[in-house]
Amino acid sequence: MTADLSKIPRSIWWGKSESNDRPTVFLIDQTRLPMIGDVLSCQKLEGVEKAVKSLAVRGAPALGVAAAMAVALWSTNESTDKEVDVWLSGIDAAAERIGSARPTAVNLAWGAQKLRDRAHEQADRGLGLQELKDDVVAFAQKMADDDEAANRAIGANGAELIKPGSRLLTHCNAGSLGTVFYGTVGGVIYTAFDQDRLEHVWVDETRPLNQGSRLTAWELMSAGVPCALIADSMAASIMQSGWVDAVFVGADRICANGDTANKIGTLMLAVCARNFCIPFYVCAPESSIDRSLEDGSQIPIEQRDPRELAGFTASGTLLPDDVASTQAFDLLTKKGERQLKFKHGHQMSLYRNTGGGYGFDAWFQTSPPEVPIYNPAFDVTPAEMITGIITERGVFDPDGLCDTDTA
Ligand code: MRU
Repeated sequence: MTADLSKIPRSIWWGKSESNDRPTVFLIDQTRLPMIGDVLSCQKLEGVEKAVKSLAVRGAPALGVAAAMAVALWSTNESTDKEVDVWLSGIDAAAERIGSARPTAVNLAWGAQKLRDRAHEQADRGLGLQELKDDVVAFAQKMADDDEAANRAIGANGAELIKPGSRLLTHCNAGSLGTVFYGTVGGVIYTAFDQDRLEHVWVDETRPLNQGSRLTAWELMSAGVPCALIADSMAASIMQSGWVDAVFVGADRICANGDTANKIGTLMLAVCARNFCIPFYVCAPESSIDRSLEDGSQIPIEQRDPRELAGFTASGTLLPDDVASTQAFDLLTKKGERQLKFKHGHQMSLYRNTGGGYGFDAWFQTSPPEVPIYNPAFDVTPAEMITGIITERGVFDPDGLCDTDTA
């Protein structure tokens, strides 16, 4: 059997809007998956920036491409500059803005910087303004293709480490959705499955935003890869039972010494894996390596909205089963999207779906309203706890990662 990736969309792509024929960045809205798979269309840098901040597009490699496309979008749809120098200053500002929309995943700033550098290089070669604009759009699209190629190489490199019959454990979503397509850890899983090496994948739920239960579980189920969802707190016990042969996680930033930031909860897995002598691998493209930082203490860790931890969100479609319910929902949504507020902080917005039924986005408070909350989105796993770092160039000891030349 091979993984069936036909139901998994690319997370981000460049195209033209059907409604106004303008260049557009299309994104799968990952905040509502798996219940709703909306495609967001962005025609301005601000739209991509909002998608990055809300995690509609997420995962370090996908963020790198989103940043590059956001700058290209600014150049195509927003810049009115007539002089190359002024346009270049605008490119710099656009790159700075999108590159700092989230702090931890280094790919975001990397993608913006790469596009900016390309613009300056091509301007130095004497290209005219329209040629420059065309060039940065083509370059951003190539970055999307390069991302998939890197993931396929990571998949091939990582699968070699997997013994036939292996049971893996993964955290968050470093699958296809966290990249443009195929995934880093996803790449290893899909390749190993195709090579008949994989028995099963344990998927951590990944509180507070549930990237594991919402995204990774959906991806693996869609691809036909055997998997089971567990709460984050179950991982140690499953390892103790001898049911995990290797842990594979993604990365948001890898320092020069190999210390690695990834989704909060990764460190806990590394500690457990070390205790039970289970190999612990990090999968990431070269663009996730930040050689300017000596060690993990220098990585900026994103702090997120306390509400992510104070309750939970749910999105979906309601299909009323009787006339009275349909009438009630029709009334509520008569004037468009309806915001409903409830005691104890619960909130819901309701809207009519073009395809039928009513969409909802809800947030339910589950903790005492006043409880103080600490909500860092990432943690740092020390290099010495990492068995190997798998990139598109091969498999490296964390401490030997920077001994080789970069591509
Ligand atoms: O907050 P997120 O969902 O962007 O965090 C994502 C992760 O931590 C991933 O593991 C990492 O970016 C690698 S995605 C291939």
